[in-house]
Amino acid sequence: MGAGIAQVAARAGFAVVMHDVAEEFLARGMKAINASLQRDVDKQRLNPDEKGTIIERIKATTDTEGLRDAFIVVEAATEDLAVKTEIFKSLDKVVRPDAILASNTSSISITKLGGVTQRPDRVIGMHFMNPVPVMNLVEVIRGAATSDRTYEEVRSLTERLGKIPLECRDSPGFVSNRVLMPMINEAVFALYEGVASRESIDGIMKLGMNHPMGPLALADFIGLDVCLAIMNVLHDGFGDSKYRPCPLLKRYVDAGWLGRKSGRGFYEY
Ligand code: CAA
Repeated sequence: MGAGIAQVAARAGFAVVMHDVAEEFLARGMKAINASLQRDVDKQRLNPDEKGTIIERIKATTDTEGLRDAFIVVEAATEDLAVKTEIFKSLDKVVRPDAILASNTSSISITKLGGVTQRPDRVIGMHFMNPVPVMNLVEVIRGAATSDRTYEEVRSLTERLGKIPLECRDSPGFVSNRVLMPMINEAVFALYEGVASRESIDGIMKLGMNHPMGPLALADFIGLDVCLAIMNVLHDGFGDSKYRPCPLLKRYVDAGWLGRKSGRGFYEY
């Protein structure tokens, strides 16, 4: 998702620094950006020169020093509180004091991330949807200490990126995943209990509800590890058994069947 966010920002005219921990991840990100922009070139919605200019606006680096002058950093690391906490602590030291630190987290508390920095008023959630270049929404999450100024700046930036910001407060799963993940988890339960085949479950939801993808295919697309992490956040956060992750989802993650990214999830790729 980080690559998608970099792409959208560069396309909107911003100079972007794309940071990751290893060159191979940066190379993978640049490859994805190239392929995504090429779709638009092929469809004659972008000329090849513009594509080149967009790519030149992105500087890929493994050195956090490259982020020093950013006015905003959008973190899009693994959905793990310990990992994100470390990143926010170190960003807080490197990035200039008035810069905004945003997280693309799908469920981790923005208030907690703000609390490990010296600038909780400048910490906010900017939750993009996958695939980032296609999806219009950015769920903008205000932590307990996020200032109105920070919210306003992020709202206006989101619009400059060509996306629609919708505001919500910090609560487990925010709105998007509080509603989406229980639906996906319930589809996994239906499969687990043998109520229907994967094709039937997905077909019923696609054809019956006009969803672009069935819930099991969508889970594979999002990543089963991410789905499980989000269900755990909902379960822990609300302490309500209605959010218990389906044992089948846990089993797939234990087996390393994480969806599209690992070649196997509820479907084979
Ligand atoms: N980059 C650029 N464009 C892309 C793209 C990408 N990575 N992927 C797809 N597209 C474009 C295609 O070029 C195509 O454009 P046009 O119709 O304008 O020609 C369009 O998107 C549709 O793509 P396809 O025809 O290849 O395939 P599709 O019709 O099956 O659509 C899809 C693919 C857009 C992914 C669609 O299936 C969809 O909307 N699925 C649901 C996605 C969704 O729910 N996302 C949210 C997940 S939850 C999340 O992200 C947050 C979280 O916290 C878990």
